[in-house]
Formats: sequence, structure tokens, C-alpha cells
Amino acid sequence: MSSYFHYRGNQFYAEQVPLADIAAQFGTPCYVYSRAALEDGFGQFTKALQGREPLICYAVKANSNLAILNVFARLGAGFDIVSGGELQRVLAAGGDARKVVFSGVGKSAVEMLMALEAGILCFNVESDAELERLNEVAGSIGKIAPVSLRVNPDVDAKTHPYISTGLKQSKFGVPYNEAVTLYRKARDLPHLRITGIDCHIGSQLTETGPFIAAAEKILLLIDALTAEGIPLEHIDLGGGLGICYNNETPPAIADYVAALLGTLRGRSEKLILEPGRALVGNAGVLLTRVEYLKPGEEKNFAIVDAAMNDLMRPALYDAFHEILPVERKVKTAPLPTPPPLAGEGAIEQRGKQAIREADARKSNSSIYEVVGPVCETGDFIGHARNLSITPQSLLAVLSAGAYGMSMSSNYNTRPRAAEVMVDGNAMHLVRERETVQQLYAGEKLIS
Ligand code: LLP
Repeated sequence: MSSYFHYRGNQFYAEQVPLADIAAQFGTPCYVYSRAALEDGFGQFTKALQGREPLICYAVKANSNLAILNVFARLGAGFDIVSGGELQRVLAAGGDARKVVFSGVGKSAVEMLMALEAGILCFNVESDAELERLNEVAGSIGKIAPVSLRVNPDVDAKTHPYISTGLKQSKFGVPYNEAVTLYRKARDLPHLRITGIDCHIGSQLTETGPFIAAAEKILLLIDALTAEGIPLEHIDLGGGLGICYNNETPPAIADYVAALLGTLRGRSEKLILEPGRALVGNAGVLLTRVEYLKPGEEKNFAIVDAAMNDLMRPALYDAFHEILPVERKVKTAPLPTPPPLAGEGAIEQRGKQAIREADARKSNSSIYEVVGPVCETGDFIGHARNLSITPQSLLAVLSAGAYGMSMSSNYNTRPRAAEVMVDGNAMHLVRERETVQQLYAGEKLIS
């Protein structure tokens, strides 16, 4: 748990604001962010990179709320975008286009035009065909497009397969062995200017090894390019640093950066990083209220007012998010972990589960499946959680700042949650709860 979200007595707070006050004022479900946590994370990157004039390009997809982008823009951040929409958000939030890198395998001509007109720092080009299209689009408006190739280093990020991007079989980047040929081609295209090289091998990495392996391969490529007379201005090593959701032990930001800098020793190219989750993941929680407690034959359900449309990560990746009561009634048992049915550690996990269940009986709490109102069995926020709750209790779903709101949907015609940013003892509504009218405003009946 980030220190910006904590208990004071039995009340759970974001900075100096009780979450219960936020629920009373803005309702639930509601995302709550801590400005201090955002600033702290960004500060850790800049401190670790002191003396190098790096560019930290916050990965907008992790959380694209304008208030969050604005906090980072004021700290001098650049931005990693993957769509024209994200570019518009960055500009609306006061971000500097000259610090924007544009990633993604499917940039449309319209998006390229928009980014060229805005004057972004560079396009992270992911294929031969994209190189050609970018050259044509830039030529059509008499501009030169700054280009970096996103190279796929074929390194195993050792993370969830859906968020692993640096293996040969993934759709991302240009194949390592074709990179030099494509750089030659880029050099010869009249409307492109080569500025750098880029890689991003995956997300929620909990070890430095794969980052180092990828960086080393990129450095070999830079040497080959230098020998070809193709100098580069920057190296972009992407994002991907993991956070602690449960019992993961990712490297601290300072250690991750130190490991990268060790690998880059003696290199003069500017370093760009694209962190998303490491900056916002533990700077946000999802606040939700228990609607019903529903005892079942095999499991007890706590039906809450947040659902898979609000926080998709559990349904999509079987991701774990810690769930804590906003008002602690009794001492709860230690952090529950969903027990694996088989495999390494299964017996130990079952043992722990039995202890948690015994604790739960003692403390008047129960083991709940925390689920939402959406009509899908996959609609769960957490399995087998030991909670002491009653209907109307508030719960905080932790580590929800990254890929929470930004991946939310309107499934089941559920208006998206409100978003609040806490700053010391102040709370600011940074996105109003959607209304149903907004959801169908663009829809039409036929005659
Ligand atoms: N740069 C590029 C090119 C990316 O594709 C990503 C994330 C990042 C940077 C930022 O990665 P981060 O530092 O946040 O790991 N929805 C998934 C994560 C998808 C990540 C996609 N790319 C999740 O909820 O775990």
C-alpha cells in the first residue's frame, strides 16, 4: 500500500481526506488519486536520473485523466501516446508536444498528420509499411517526420502473456534482425529524419534482468548503426516497471534506473523512459460500496457497486487487487491471497487459507467473493477475501490508479465512475460521474 493511502485509527484516508467523506460527497464507485503520490513517483525518477537530462514520457494509456496529465506536465514530463485521442488529451492538459513520443502499431494517416502539425518529438515506428506511410504523410504537408524505430529485442519479460510485448511472436516493433535494413531505408526516405531507437518489452516486470537484456541488445544495434554512419540522438527504453499489488517485489524506481544507467555507462545519447504503471498504479484506489451480502452454498458473495466495467484487470488478467474496508470494524486477518488449486506452493497456500478462514470465524468476518453487478461470471473484483463488512460498507480496491479508469467501459449501460484527486486536505472532482443520457447521446432511432 502506498503511504499516501493509510488508516488513521479505523478510518482509511487518502492523504488527509477520509475516503468516507469522498463517498459521501461524490458517491460510488469512484476512483480516488493522491496528487502527492503522483509527484513522489515522478520525483523518484528525476532524482535517480539526475545529471543526465533524461525525458520521462509518462505512458498516457495507464491513466489519461486530464488532471493527472496536468500534474505530470507541470513537473516537466513528456508523454508516450498511442493515439490521436491521447495527443489531444496531452495538449488539453497543458503538455508540451515537443516532449511527446508516439508509439503503437496502427497509427492512421490522420493521427500522423495531427502529430506532425503539433510538432511532436518523435514517432516510434513499428513496421516497414508504417515507415512508408509516415514518409508520404509528412511529404504531403511539406514536413520532415522525426523517427525512431521500435525494435523488438526478442527478450522474455516474464510477465503475464497479454502484457508481454518483446518476444518475436508479438505484434510489436520491427524484428531485431531487420532493424539495420529498415534504418537504412528510413535514412533514404526524403521526409523522415532519424532521431532515435526505442524498445518496450512488456508491463508489470518485477525483475531488472529482462530490461538489461533488452538494453544490451539495443546498444549492440546502436553500434551497428554508428558503423553505418547512422548516428542517434536518443535511446528510449520504454516503460514496464512493475508495482506491488500483493506480494510482488519489483525493484524500486531508483534501483531500476541505476541498473539501466549501469548498462548505458559511457553513452551520450539522451535517455527516454516511458513509465506508466510505476507512476500511477499505487497513486489511486477504487472506492466502492457493498450493496448486498449474499450467502451461497459454497461461497459467500459481497456484491459491490463497482464492476468489471470499472476495473477490468481482475476479469481480463486474473489480476489481484488488495481490498480493504474503509472503516475497520475489527482487526482483519493478514492479506488474503487466492489459493492456487495446484502447482508450486499449493499446499502452503491452502494452509494459509485455512488459517484465514479460522481467523475470519473468530473475528466475525467472512470470506467473500467480491463481485460486481454485471451479468458475467467473470465479473469479480477479488476472490476469497476476508472482510468484516455489512451492506453499505465502503471498500477501497487498492493499486487501481493504472489501467483502471483508462480501461473502463460502459458495459451493461453503466455510466463510468467519478474521479477525485486528493491534494493534502482538499478533494477535487476531476471527472464527473457519467450520466446515462451521455451514453446514448450519439444514438439514433431509424424511421
Ligand atoms: N510504452 C509502451 C509502448 C507501452 O505499450 C506501454 C504499455 C508503456 C510504455 C507503459 O508500460 P507500464 O510502465 O505501464 O508498464 N492493461 C495492462 C497493461 C498494458 C500495458 C500496455 N503498454 C494492465 O492492466 O496490466
